[in-house]
Amino acid sequence: MSVAGRLLLWVLSLGVASYALIVYLSLPLGVFVHPDIRPGLQARPVVVLVHVLAAALALAIGPLQFQPHLRRGAPSVHRWLGRVYCAGMLVGGIAGVHMAFHAYGGAVARAGFAALAIAWLYTGLRAYLSIRAGDVPAHRRWMIRNFALTFAAVTLRLYVPAALALGVAFAAAYPVIAWLCWVPNLLIAQWLIAAGVSRVCAPAPAWRAPARRPAAAAGAARGSCIAAAPDRVAPCVPGTSSIAATTPREDHRFG
Ligand code: HEM
Repeated sequence: MSVAGRLLLWVLSLGVASYALIVYLSLPLGVFVHPDIRPGLQARPVVVLVHVLAAALALAIGPLQFQPHLRRGAPSVHRWLGRVYCAGMLVGGIAGVHMAFHAYGGAVARAGFAALAIAWLYTGLRAYLSIRAGDVPAHRRWMIRNFALTFAAVTLRLYVPAALALGVAFAAAYPVIAWLCWVPNLLIAQWLIAAGVSRVCAPAPAWRAPARRPAAAAGAARGSCIAAAPDRVAPCVPGTSSIAATTPREDHRFG
């Protein structure tokens, strides 16, 4: 990803996370949302606050976790922030499932938000399990997918005003946006993974050392050079995305 792209990701993530934290901690509930949504939020203030605060924490931390400098320079900070991110996602996601069933916009919107919440929790669980198993490439792939879903909080808040500016009625736009805010994000994440991962590491090398753990072996079988041979680092292409590409040696420290 380009520097401008990364900067935009940071600014938008921190912008929406700050909006959520500041507004929901200091102003009456739902003061800035569309009037159609407000009664639904005000009907369940505790769940809404839990969701907003926990999910905003994940959104604020997410971009930091993709910084290779942080992983290289302060791996323990990366680990701790990762735990806070996971906690935010877990709590925010469970509250999100509950809120999805009461969301404005009828069955289509509710199904869109519920699918997003479940996909968010599922990709987070896969990312967590893969790092516990020492499979760093899989952890990276699942985290890219997971953060693409976290980023739905940003895309939703871009699409709603855009739809209103185009003259689309809120009631018509919202159910569509409940899907549009995350499905394209996930497709882009998948594309980034395919482009980035395939560029970073050389094909499965002949010198592959025996893997210590089954998950590491699985990663190696997919052409990964990270988990299989920590002492023999395959070449990385300079200038590749900091999300999808970090040096294998650097990543292996988190296995
Ligand atoms: C990715 C999984 C997420 C799901 C499934 C989800 C689901 C929902 C749902 C269903 C609502 C209520 C909408 C309605 O009543 O019509 C909502 C509201 C809200 N969510 Fe999330 N959300 C997610 C992520 C996030 C994140 C990462 C943030 C971070 C800021 C966030 C912040 C908010 C806020 C602030 C509201 C209140 C409405 C507003 O002020 O815009 N959500 N969410």
